[in-house]
Amino acid sequence: MTIAPQDFLPQLADWVAQLDDVFPGKQIKPWFAQWEVGHLLSLAVLGGSSILLNLRLIGVGLTDEPASELNRNLRGWIIAGMIGIVVTGLLIGSSNAERLYTSEAFTAKMIGLLAGIILTFAVTLTATRNDGAMGPAARVSALVGLAVFLVAISAFLMAKLANPGLWHVISAGALIVLFATRGLTRIVYLTVMLAMIAAQQVLTHVVYKFDDYAHLDPVNKGFAWGYVAVILGFGALQAVASGRSQAAGPFVKLMAFAAILVWVMTAAAGRWLAFA
Ligand code: HEM
Repeated sequence: MTIAPQDFLPQLADWVAQLDDVFPGKQIKPWFAQWEVGHLLSLAVLGGSSILLNLRLIGVGLTDEPASELNRNLRGWIIAGMIGIVVTGLLIGSSNAERLYTSEAFTAKMIGLLAGIILTFAVTLTATRNDGAMGPAARVSALVGLAVFLVAISAFLMAKLANPGLWHVISAGALIVLFATRGLTRIVYLTVMLAMIAAQQVLTHVVYKFDDYAHLDPVNKGFAWGYVAVILGFGALQAVASGRSQAAGPFVKLMAFAAILVWVMTAAAGRWLAFA
């Protein structure tokens, strides 16, 4: 089964094929690279403000200021980043539409975008505005956002040739938990992760030859799931152990973790469009 837009929207094929011959795709095409720079600058603004706000909810980073103060300073930036990335994305997309239409990674990216918007409004902006508190409606919206995020990850997993891009998401998750953990928990977490990385390197570079995919693929997939289990386990442990420190409770902290990762996933799917 393939999950590119052309697989479930075949009736759009003719419309997509002419998009680069009409406004705005035709005008953007000669300036594709310049507009793509705008796409990446928007990503920097969106990602940077999302990381600062959500890390504040997790209890690390700019902890000297109340979360509501950070919200006042950064909400304009995060919204500008989201608008900028969608507008520039639609413009470069219209000048190269067939590439997106035939891309499984693009399907994952669009589901990720939806999850990112939900999590950003329900968690990042709501919880920081209220200094870490989330009412029932925001909690339900956050769970909906999380469910959509899991669908996006499943789509990314199904996107052949692009799915190694999920290593970016695992790496980002690993680093966030490293920042969030403290004391002995951090030392144990780091030791377990370094031991796993060393074991993976030995297995994939010494034990099995570089072209022995019959063994390398299951080993790498096994480690990927192993890292996910360790990262989520220590992340949950830290969220529960730190209780309501720095204002936000365990639920909000775990949702803030997802609210950063959703943009990393969406960006990774965007980058891996090029490899599929
Ligand atoms: C309506 C929404 C969007 C559309 C239509 C869109 C479209 C595109 C297109 C056409 C490309 C160029 C792909 C290529 O030719 O290789 C691209 C690249 C990319 N996009 Fe998007 N995008 C959208 C939203 C996003 C979002 C929300 C993010 C991140 C959170 C994102 C991150 C990226 C990244 C990282 C690249 C790779 C740039 C590079 O490596 O040169 N995009 N996007």
